[in-house]
Amino acid sequence: MYTEQVTWLPLIEEINTALDSYLQVKEAEHAQLYEAARYAVLGAGKKIRPLLCLAAAEMLGVPLDQALPPAVALEFVHCYSLIHDDLPAMDNDDYRRGRLTLHRAFPEGLAILTGDYLLTYAFQVIAEASNLDPRTKVRLVQLLAQSAGGEGMVGGQVRDIDVDGHPLVLQQLKEIHARKTGRLFKASILFAAVLKNVDSTVYAELEEIAELIGLAFQVADDILDVTKSEEKHGRSSDMSNQKKTYVTFFGVAGAQNEVHKLLKQIDLRLDALPYSAQLLKEIIHWVIARCF
Ligand code: IPE
Ligand code: IPE
Ligand code: MG
Ligand code: MG
Ligand code: MG
Repeated sequence: MYTEQVTWLPLIEEINTALDSYLQVKEAEHAQLYEAARYAVLGAGKKIRPLLCLAAAEMLGVPLDQALPPAVALEFVHCYSLIHDDLPAMDNDDYRRGRLTLHRAFPEGLAILTGDYLLTYAFQVIAEASNLDPRTKVRLVQLLAQSAGGEGMVGGQVRDIDVDGHPLVLQQLKEIHARKTGRLFKASILFAAVLKNVDSTVYAELEEIAELIGLAFQVADDILDVTKSEEKHGRSSDMSNQKKTYVTFFGVAGAQNEVHKLLKQIDLRLDALPYSAQLLKEIIHWVIARCF
């Protein structure tokens, strides 16, 4: 549904083909694990993290075949995070991407293990990439671990469930967003920077731009939870769980205005880079403008 006539359709096709080939059934006796992994990864997800990685790689002049394995790893970590996020002990969601969540379609224990598998496999994919030098692989692995771990996404998820029902100020919400969503977004763009081995000035600028993109994306996600629950497939529990989001702070129109302001900043800073960021900008606008 997201793949109509768009300029990055070839990139989505590359990503889907790569995901499919990395998730072939390997051992017949564990077939259910691979079936569950395929259910969780292939299908209606937007693949926005691998797309951002490949678009940033294109912008910096990194060959596609070098960027593809790290892009796949990002999607595996993302899908693992969603499997665990949907579990009864966390958001307790029954639907995602228009169908049953993994733990509703498969036994819950297998769903948890499928998350574990995808997380572990992500690092294997980078470690075994045939066309990257060892130093680059170590930097990618380190960045992914920092982004997904206690200082990153997992830390953000812990804070997210920790503050449930407690009063929260905007700055705390921003910090949770920056970790639970922002860090993996940041890694998506910084993966390309690592692959290109850009200098520290460009790296720092890309890091800040990626932070803005991650925040804009999570605010858009919060808006969509309220305004287009059918697009989010009626599965969001965040409202019924009375989670504090940008919408509870600003209202829908106020949150949309925040997204507008963020998009403007992102565009200005991308335009100021010494590269052509056209594809990256198109993808960012496509994924975020859904909330308007
Ligand atoms: C949903 O991410 C979870 C958040 C971090 C907001 P996506 O909106 O990227 O999920 P899919 O992969 O496209 O379903
Ligand atoms: C999920 O945030 C973030 C991670 C899985 C790291 P949400 O709980 O808001 O995502 P959705 O709304 O279930 O997709
Ligand atoms: Mg959640
Ligand atoms: Mg959730
Ligand atoms: Mg949400």
